Amino acid sequence: MATIGIWNVIFVIFFLAAILATGIKIVTSTSWYKKNFAQRQYEWANLTRRVFDPLKRKLFSNLEQQLKSTEGDVLEIGIGPGSNFDYYPQGTSLIAVDSNPHVEESLKRNLEKAGRRIHLKKFVAASADDMSCNGEIGVEDNSVAAVVCTKLLCNLSDLETRKTIEEVKRVLMPGGRIYFLEHIAAKPWTFQYFLQHLVTKFHIWPSLFNGCCCNQNTLSDIQNGGFKWVQYEKIFANCSHEMFSAPNNTYSIIWRARVILYFVNIWLVGLAE
Ligand SMILES: C[S@@+](CC[C@H](N)C(=O)[O-])C[C@H]1O[C@@H](n2cnc3c(N)ncnc32)[C@H](O)[C@@H]1O
Repeated sequence: MATIGIWNVIFVIFFLAAILATGIKIVTSTSWYKKNFAQRQYEWANLTRRVFDPLKRKLFSNLEQQLKSTEGDVLEIGIGPGSNFDYYPQGTSLIAVDSNPHVEESLKRNLEKAGRRIHLKKFVAASADDMSCNGEIGVEDNSVAAVVCTKLLCNLSDLETRKTIEEVKRVLMPGGRIYFLEHIAAKPWTFQYFLQHLVTKFHIWPSLFNGCCCNQNTLSDIQNGGFKWVQYEKIFANCSHEMFSAPNNTYSIIWRARVILYFVNIWLVGLAE
């Protein structure tokens, strides 16, 4: 009897977990969720602007030089609200790709702020692992001087990451470079590493953050991606209180952001050709 009871409990737990997982999948695939997420991304980018500023300054320090030596467009994949615009040089011609078409609204708001410095050539609503879109509206082979990829690869499966890297190589002109900024897993067997795996394996983190996984080892994907060279640094984001720009410095918002960033405070900043 006792054995049957335990099996019943296990069955009910798995059944409820399966219903929960299906429910989350259905909700996150709705247009309502995607629109809402795009707006939250815009707010998050404003809140954390100062946290990422030193990392982005480092990342984009030679973008202007790159665009002078290899004349061509910048392609930003997984562009979201366009939180990198402050770092693009005057006269940037931009192709934007994001799988969520609802980001276009906040993207245009940030483009207005950038004024004539950036010209949006086209917005392609597509997955970064297939940007050809049957050749009609997609991104052409050997057509861009730089690909910008920030906080995207954490959202992709291993296969999607490999396909995205292949796509990046397809669209880059000779001499073109990818600029990447991605959070990575902590050192193995640390408390942070354990927490990252716990919240990802139990689907808590991906459910809260649109499929993001905080235990990714993105560096090996890039290093094994077949680039001529890869250059990178691992940098800790400074997440102290004064780095956040919440309206009226709202204490609870800043604390929530600091807790979130505890899980993703190690960043890979680099480029590859
Ligand atoms: C965490 S946000 C980062 C946005 C922006 N790059 C930044 O640095 O603030 C990830 C973005 O990637 C987009 N995304 C997720 N999966 C994608 C995919 N397979 N292809 C293209 N974009 C994707 C999401 O819609 C979202 O806008």
